[in-house]
Amino acid sequence: MTVSGKLSHMTDHAELPRRRGSSREDRCERDSGDDGERESSRGTSCRSSTSAFSRPPLLVAEHLCKTYRHGKLSVAALRDVTLSIASGATVCIGGRSGSGKSTLLRQLGLIDTPDAGRIVIEGEDVGSLSQRARGELRLRKLGYVFQEYALLEELTAQENVALPALMRGASRRQSRRRALKQLDLVGLGERAHHRPKELSGGEQQRVAIARALVNEPRILFADEPTANLDSASAQVVMRTLAALSAELRVAVVFVSHEPDDRDYAALTVTMRDGELSEGHG
Ligand SMILES: Nc1ncnc2c1ncn2[C@@H]1O[C@H](COP(=O)(O)OP(=O)(O)OP(=O)(O)O)[C@@H](O)[C@H]1O
Ligand SMILES: [Mg+2]
Repeated sequence: MTVSGKLSHMTDHAELPRRRGSSREDRCERDSGDDGERESSRGTSCRSSTSAFSRPPLLVAEHLCKTYRHGKLSVAALRDVTLSIASGATVCIGGRSGSGKSTLLRQLGLIDTPDAGRIVIEGEDVGSLSQRARGELRLRKLGYVFQEYALLEELTAQENVALPALMRGASRRQSRRRALKQLDLVGLGERAHHRPKELSGGEQQRVAIARALVNEPRILFADEPTANLDSASAQVVMRTLAALSAELRVAVVFVSHEPDDRDYAALTVTMRDGELSEGHG
């Protein structure tokens, strides 16, 4: 597929919707109730997707559907979204407010579960995992950065960053050591003992990035990581993400409204009313 982007050191490695046969609406409707059909269409799509890469993609999401319901009102936030992400990919997800960007990121990051479709991470079908195994997979392979940082106020930067390592079973000492290493990587080694309120917004976001990286994930998801920042801090955060992706070969998938942020991605995709397409809209 064609890849847009301006950073020559970035690699491509994302693949987009492969539409076949029935409409998105049909598929989302049918997938909620017909498992047999779903399996066969998933298999075909997965095989053709894989053949586009020299090695298997890191994450494959196929035919994701998600509808929110409030009484009689229903909002189709994701309509048959298919996407592959390979190692080291940098992908910017754009689109208007309410188009489904955060919903998509939450499904890919295993924070939420789609109504239909499947997600395969390094060959492991997430749908077949127990809740516990899914949580472990998330801790091991995925990192997530929220717009509002989501740091624990009473903990220092180092303690915040160490948490996912502790949750994954590392000793206190190991966790603290790894946390310091990550803080160094995002340029905040000297702020290790600061609490969030003693840090600027940009610094807090870099702490959140360090926390997302402490278990050395394969993919980092970031939902509008620069939305609360002034433009200078936003640039530092985006440069940090791009450098980490290039150095550590972590795939980075981020949501942004900012046209400038697209420069940090090898591929830009756009959500429109729950549908995903390549390029910016
Ligand atoms: N928990 C929820 N319950 C009900 N509806 C929801 C829920 N979360 C999202 N929605 C609806 O789903 C649609 C997509 O929401 P989403 O948050 O994914 O959009 P977005 O593209 O991230 O928007 P923004 O740019 O404003 O963050 C919206 O119409 C929203 O109102
Ligand atoms: Mg959002």
